[in-house]
Amino acid sequence: MTQASPRRLFVTTALPYANGHFHIGHIMEYIQADIWVRFQRMRGHEVNFVCADDAHGAPIMIAAEKAGKTPQHFVADIASGRKPYLDGFHISFDNWHSTDGPENHELAQAIYKDLKANGLIETRTIEQFFDPDKAMFLPDRFIKGECPKCGAKDQYGDNCEVCGAVYAPTELKNPYSALSGATPVLKSSDHFFFKLSDPRCLDFLNGWTTSGAVQPEVLNKITEWIAPGEDGKPKMGDWDISRDAPYFGIEIPDAPGKYFYVWLDAPVGYLASLKNLFVKQGKDYEAFMADPATEQYHFIGKDIITFHTLFWPAMLHFSGRKVPNAVFVHGFLTINNGEKMSKSRGTGLDPLKYLKLGMNPEWLRYYLAAKLSNKNEDIDFNQDDFMLRVNSDLVGKFVNIVSRSAGFLTKRFDGVLATAADEQGAALLADIRAAADTVATLYEGREYGKAMRDIMALADRVNAYVDQHKPWDLAKDPAQSERLHQVCSVLVNAFTLLARYLAPVLPSLASRVAELTGADLGAWGASGQDVARINPYQHLMQRVDPKQLEALFEPPALANQAQEATKTESNNAKKPAKAAAAPAADPNAPGGEALAPTIGIDDFAKVDLRIAKILASEAVEGSTKLLRLTLDVGEKDDAGQPKTRNVFSGIASMYQPEQLTGLLTVVVANLAPRKMKFGLSEGMVLAASYADERQIPGIFVLQPWPGATPGMRIH
Ligand code: 2FM
Ligand code: ZN
Repeated sequence: MTQASPRRLFVTTALPYANGHFHIGHIMEYIQADIWVRFQRMRGHEVNFVCADDAHGAPIMIAAEKAGKTPQHFVADIASGRKPYLDGFHISFDNWHSTDGPENHELAQAIYKDLKANGLIETRTIEQFFDPDKAMFLPDRFIKGECPKCGAKDQYGDNCEVCGAVYAPTELKNPYSALSGATPVLKSSDHFFFKLSDPRCLDFLNGWTTSGAVQPEVLNKITEWIAPGEDGKPKMGDWDISRDAPYFGIEIPDAPGKYFYVWLDAPVGYLASLKNLFVKQGKDYEAFMADPATEQYHFIGKDIITFHTLFWPAMLHFSGRKVPNAVFVHGFLTINNGEKMSKSRGTGLDPLKYLKLGMNPEWLRYYLAAKLSNKNEDIDFNQDDFMLRVNSDLVGKFVNIVSRSAGFLTKRFDGVLATAADEQGAALLADIRAAADTVATLYEGREYGKAMRDIMALADRVNAYVDQHKPWDLAKDPAQSERLHQVCSVLVNAFTLLARYLAPVLPSLASRVAELTGADLGAWGASGQDVARINPYQHLMQRVDPKQLEALFEPPALANQAQEATKTESNNAKKPAKAAAAPAADPNAPGGEALAPTIGIDDFAKVDLRIAKILASEAVEGSTKLLRLTLDVGEKDDAGQPKTRNVFSGIASMYQPEQLTGLLTVVVANLAPRKMKFGLSEGMVLAASYADERQIPGIFVLQPWPGATPGMRIH
């Protein structure tokens, strides 16, 4: 494929709310976008890849108040924790900014003024619940009460989680403020609306959404909003873009006490981060955005489609700005066939823990790439599948090509490669080179899974060549020295070509291959050259150790067990035991660690805590940390007979087994059973400890007040 003249690209991922650290869903999106961006850079295109913290909104304002910080301080603290994740997973953003930066204030206000001048902003008086104690209007999620349909208590202001009814907050019976408990009062206020139902907006959106800017499945979804309904009107109404003070956000021009709703200024943050980057680089932001050749792409999750494919393009178009060339929507990531990793539920696979355990970030990049397509389908991280794919594809098929050939070249031929290949080897190399266009097309179309399959199919062919020519046998026969030289040279060249194809996914490995071979792996078009000589080979990638995965999915309260598991390992992988050490405690935080992000009662209700009686407690042979507990959680088997559970608990340093027998405690009863080295653990006993047990030792099992009996639920 001939290289077109360099394209000018502006690429973003969704801006994460600045009220919590990244979870694996964020990292998946960043990896998806980063692979595409790295590929585009390899093609010689100019890429400006930016992101920022989504800083504004009532939830962040309220979380900051709870944390005793100003919102600015609160979001700055979150922002300061971003780097280890981004660096750790090789995410190559050119800029990370904040929607509270001055560029965003200016740009959001300018866009609003342009929309207003275009006759698309309207003022309406609306009635909303107001918290008299907090002196603020309450967002729907902060109003609770009894469901107007089924009477269930403690339901949110927008829908009932018991009967599924959807209603307005004003319909709740006995409403109360989730912030203060006060009874809210209805109060009227002027709000600004973006007139999305204006025929001009609908015309534009009908055109833009069908221009190829969204995936077909996304188009199906959003058509519901803009196509005329049975009454001839579209479902999409005008959009309330203002909020009243107090609000952490951007002030609306000429409207004291009014702020933009966070979703108005959040996507403007894409432009603000780009502008901030260009100012730092001394580049002309206005000229770049005015250039019709500039291409704008947003990678987002399927939960924020309407904001990005309806509201955002309309905001840009009717304020006289460039609209996105495309919005690329991905699905959710589930973990071990479990729950989806949505924005608010970041449990399951902690990305920082992954890194701290010494797990290779490129394993995850490859695994996700192998699963991703250009559809917005959910994908699942399955730990067994992860280990299989990484170990068999990356290490077994790919890295093995060079690990089985490089040593012979350095030891026997001073690192210099043969200049001519045997006929079969030459044909193999030609076939690998010929795949460059197909693989490029797959990357361009975000069909990474297909690209990985094609690359691994080529690796299979290379391995068949290895097996046929058996360099280890050739090495035993001095008469076969030239043959050995040729075969190993073909293998190193084949490996280098494949490494270039994998470079968008495995950038760190690619740079080590570049050091090894002197090849230019930063440019797609450099595949024509042969490797002339190699440096001494150092192993490029370890296999995944099952103990690392076991430790990764270890619940935090059982961290002792994770360390135990890793200590017993005997392979030569990076040392997870060291990496798994507790993070340094924060002396200013309760118990040495900051509170976890706020959850709603519905999140809490998912954890089924039960009273358990410890019927038996015994030491575990081969473990200094664990006790095996036999628990009565009030359960019966099918025959109605009392049933017990087996739970391993990392409390042996604190308790003699006999001290615990007969006591009541609390167990997480609906935790998925986990296979451990010593047997199946069917729950988790709750125990308290300081963040860093080296500073304040001890782990203290919880005991209920007398009167509780096995099986009682803790509410
Ligand atoms: O859903 C979210 O996590 C939002 N913070 C995404 C914002 S994307 C863009 F509009 F800023
Ligand atoms: Zn209900």
